[in-house]
Amino acid sequence: MITVTRLGKHIGAAITGVDLSKTLDDDTFAQVSQAFFDNEVVVFPGQTLTPEQQIAFTRRFGVLEHHVRKEARLGNHPEIFILSNKVDAQGKAIGAQDAGRFWHSDLSYKTQPSLLSALYAVEIPVKDGKPLGDTHFASTTAAYNALPEDLKQQLAGLRNIHSYRDYRLKNYAAQQDDERRGIRTVQEHAPTPEQLASVPDMATPVVRVHPVTGRKGLFVNEGHTSHMHDMPPEEGDALLRRLYDHITQPEFIYTHHWKPGDLLMWDNIAVQHKATFDYDPLPRLLYRTTVRGPAVADSIVLQ
Ligand code: SIN
Repeated sequence: MITVTRLGKHIGAAITGVDLSKTLDDDTFAQVSQAFFDNEVVVFPGQTLTPEQQIAFTRRFGVLEHHVRKEARLGNHPEIFILSNKVDAQGKAIGAQDAGRFWHSDLSYKTQPSLLSALYAVEIPVKDGKPLGDTHFASTTAAYNALPEDLKQQLAGLRNIHSYRDYRLKNYAAQQDDERRGIRTVQEHAPTPEQLASVPDMATPVVRVHPVTGRKGLFVNEGHTSHMHDMPPEEGDALLRRLYDHITQPEFIYTHHWKPGDLLMWDNIAVQHKATFDYDPLPRLLYRTTVRGPAVADSIVLQ
C-alpha cells in the first residue's frame, strides 16, 4: 500500500511505501501512476537505484527518449541523460551543465513532446546544512484554470512556435554572456549544425488537453517558445510575457529541495520547471530518463 503526502498547494506529493528497485506489481504500479498524474510532480524519497532499475521503472510509462545531445548520455545507457557539473579525469564535462536555465517543459519542441521525466539524485551539494540546486515546478493546469474567461477564449485556437534551434542559440548566448560577466563558466559548446537541423520547429496549440487526465493546460514556455504563430511580433511577445508571468506566480509553484536517493518525476504536459545554479564548485550529479508522449493534436511541423 503506498502513502501519498501532498507537498505543494496545487502540485507535488511524496510517495512512500514503494521500493522502485523491484518490479512493482500491476496494482501498485496503477496506484503510483494515478498519484503521479493527480499531483503532477512526485518524489519517491530514499531510493537506491542502478541506471538499469531507473530505466526499467520509467519504461513502464512508455518509450524512453535518447537525448539529442549524445555527449551527455550515460555510457552504455543512452536512455539516461546526465545532469552534472562534474568533469572526468581529462577535465571534460560528464553531462549537461546548463540544463534548465529557463522555465521549460522537457523536449516540448519535439513532434512527440515528452510525457514525463524522472530525475534520480546521485550527488547533491550541501552548504551550511542546506541542499543547493533546488528545482522549481509551476503547474500550467492550475495556471490555466485561474485565467480570466475572456483570456481563455482569446487563447483557444492560438498556436505558439516551439523551436529547438532558437532554444539552443539562446542558451548558448546566455552562457557566453555569463562568462563575459564572470558569473559562471560551463563547458557547453555552440550547438552543431547537425543538432540544429535535426529538430524541426513546431506550431503547437497554446492550450493543450492532457492526454491522460483530460485537464487543460498552457503549453507555452520561455525556454522553448520562440514566438506566437500567425501574430504580429509585438502583440505575440506581449501575450507570451503575460502568460509566463502568470504561470510562474508563487501560488502555482512547488520547489524541490533535493536529497540523495530522491527519484523525482514530473508531468511535462502539466508543469514546467527551472533549475537553480547556486552550487558551483560543489559537485551535483543526477540521472534523467524521459518518456515520450503522444503528438500534440492540431500541431503543425514547420520545416
Ligand atoms: C532540467 O531537467 O531541466 C534540469 C533540472 C535540474 O537540474 O534541476
